[in-house]
Amino acid sequence: MSALRCDQTAAWAALGGHFEAHGRDFDLGEAFARDAGRAAALSFEAPEVFADLSKNRLDTATLRFLLDLARECGLEARRDAMLAGEPINATEGRAVLHTALRAPRGQGLFGTEVHEVLGAMLAYAERVRDTAASGIRHVVNIGIGGSDLGPQMVVPALDAHAHRELTLHFVSNVDGHDITRVLRRLQPADTLFIIASKTFTTQETMANAEAARAWFVANGGQDIARHFVASTTNVAAAAKFGIEATFGFWDWVGGRYSLWSAIGLPIAVAVGAANFRAFLAGAHAMDGHFAGAPLERNLPVLLGLLDLWYRNFHGFTSRSVAPYHQGLARLPAYLQQLEMESNGKRVDMAGNVLPFATSPVVWGEPGTNAQHAYFQMLHQGSDVIPVEFIAVKTPAHALADQHAKLLANCLAQSQALMLGKTAAMALGESAPTASKTIDAATLAEHRSFPGNRPSTTLVLDALTPHSLGALIALYEHRVFVSGALWGINSFDQWGVELGKALANQLLPRLASGDASGLDGSTAALLARLRT
Ligand code: F6P
Repeated sequence: MSALRCDQTAAWAALGGHFEAHGRDFDLGEAFARDAGRAAALSFEAPEVFADLSKNRLDTATLRFLLDLARECGLEARRDAMLAGEPINATEGRAVLHTALRAPRGQGLFGTEVHEVLGAMLAYAERVRDTAASGIRHVVNIGIGGSDLGPQMVVPALDAHAHRELTLHFVSNVDGHDITRVLRRLQPADTLFIIASKTFTTQETMANAEAARAWFVANGGQDIARHFVASTTNVAAAAKFGIEATFGFWDWVGGRYSLWSAIGLPIAVAVGAANFRAFLAGAHAMDGHFAGAPLERNLPVLLGLLDLWYRNFHGFTSRSVAPYHQGLARLPAYLQQLEMESNGKRVDMAGNVLPFATSPVVWGEPGTNAQHAYFQMLHQGSDVIPVEFIAVKTPAHALADQHAKLLANCLAQSQALMLGKTAAMALGESAPTASKTIDAATLAEHRSFPGNRPSTTLVLDALTPHSLGALIALYEHRVFVSGALWGINSFDQWGVELGKALANQLLPRLASGDASGLDGSTAALLARLRT
């Protein structure tokens, strides 16, 4: 497909001019004062998600320039190529079809295979959930990266919908402390292990799977076939391990996009078949929005464009995600893999080194905890870090006062970031905890906030399987959008390989002590770790 990289377009040059004239010194306070309709003009609706973009350093004119860029880069054609199953993951020669996993029966590509595995997996999940018959009380998911982070994020998010007699555990790290911590509390008879690995070769997962099997046998476990199940594209390797029940998926499902596939088995076990189907349906609703909404109201497109605006024109290096819902505590970690593994690339599709920056650092913690940790830096630090707030209108608990406090804090943070506080304002306020010996003007400088710090607020009516599915799909498509504009391959991850290969070379040296040919630092550390 002939498509332009963002910096090869006329729109990119126009955006540069617009940035110099209206972007670099954009002031949010002035923008709101100038335009009473700003909040409405920069608020958008997508399935299950309302987005307020108005506290960002852009206006409708900026959006027009950005949308011109999207059109000139052929974004719609690139999106359509992905949805049609073209091999857009060119370096691996693969299609990218996580959207097919959530298409209703009879609609998506590979529908027969997808619904066959889905039906079998959900039936299996329901059998496990019948705890009187299955005898299972603990489910341990063993996987890493995309075979861990999705279920690990979604299961607590949907806790209100989860089976009360089943406890889900997640083991990922090759560090033996991880699995030891979990196994210490379990008995083989009521434990089910899910070995989740697309390749069934990943060092960490295989080591943990073997440790689990050894523990199971050593502790009198009977019937490995009943207590171990696999989610993998490598059915043969799972069978070799001794696993009979295997749920497959396909090479067109990227690891970090795989929670909709058999990798979602822990989610299905926790919340049941109907909720898992609602989760898929929420994602499918967002797919429909991404595929069909006009670009100027297409939320994943707008967010992807905003990301590019901040990264390439404002030069912001990171984005902080603050979900104001404890159930979404692992969302930032999940998004870190989704965005940074996808768009942490330095060459374009043709292998040319890019002359501009790509993925920001994505990080965060749930509010209000984050406020008492690093929000200090967001408010008064020397870097501008756009923040993404996620607010949920209706909680799944009955503590209404606490929920009101949570929402008030969420609103207050985006307000404070934007409004700031001048030194003159600080001077006029009393500061009872301040030192009596510091002069007032100096103190006012310490107590002032620059403001004009941008944020986006996403609002869900409630955190349900359907809305969570939509929210995750929104992020997936947003990452696709910025990656497509940058002209990179968002669907490979060669950057993980070098470390893996070196670890395999170093492993025998830890036993033998052979440091020949190693750099001085690594040789010295190897010696230190062996003594
Ligand atoms: O870290 C690289 C990676 O390939 C991820 O993309 C993937 O999610 C993870 O490893 C796990 O791989 P697998 O599912 O094959 O064990």
